[in-house]
Amino acid sequence: MAITINGQEHALPDDPRVTLLDLLRGDAGLTGTKKGCDHGQCGACTVLVNGMRINSCLALAVTHDGDEVTTIEGLGSPTEPGVMQSAFLAHDGFQCGYCTPGQICSATAMLEEIKAGWPSDATEDLEGAPEITGEEIRERMSGNLCRCGAYTNIVAAIREAAGEDA
Ligand code: FES
Ligand code: FES
Repeated sequence: MAITINGQEHALPDDPRVTLLDLLRGDAGLTGTKKGCDHGQCGACTVLVNGMRINSCLALAVTHDGDEVTTIEGLGSPTEPGVMQSAFLAHDGFQCGYCTPGQICSATAMLEEIKAGWPSDATEDLEGAPEITGEEIRERMSGNLCRCGAYTNIVAAIREAAGEDA
């Protein structure tokens, strides 16, 4: 049983109680993914699994045999940040930074969900493709809490990464 994390294969733990979050931060040594509440409430642990965002604190690692996981480390590096990472830097989309990896992973997948035409609770026209408005972003990012309250700049960063006017 194995899982692929940022393109590298890792063995899954023998203990079925280990969460994906603890596997990432422990055995895999990828501490970019943060543990906030450990109860699916804050979004700090958000990673991409096969391109979709999930709360890794609520996922048991052994249930992801064969899956591909992307963490914040897989979206870019300090010298070569990805598009969303650069936008967060440009717009000061953080203060303490604790929620930021989860915000960036979540926003990355969220834009793909909009491109795929998935509606949200804020989508008024269910026939057309959702527009990337501030309201859509706030609704779709509502699972990612920021104790520092950097929300205004987070929305501006996401709009820039999406190619919209910030
Ligand atoms: S640590 Fe997973 S949602 Fe808070
Ligand atoms: S930047 Fe501090 S919790 Fe979001």
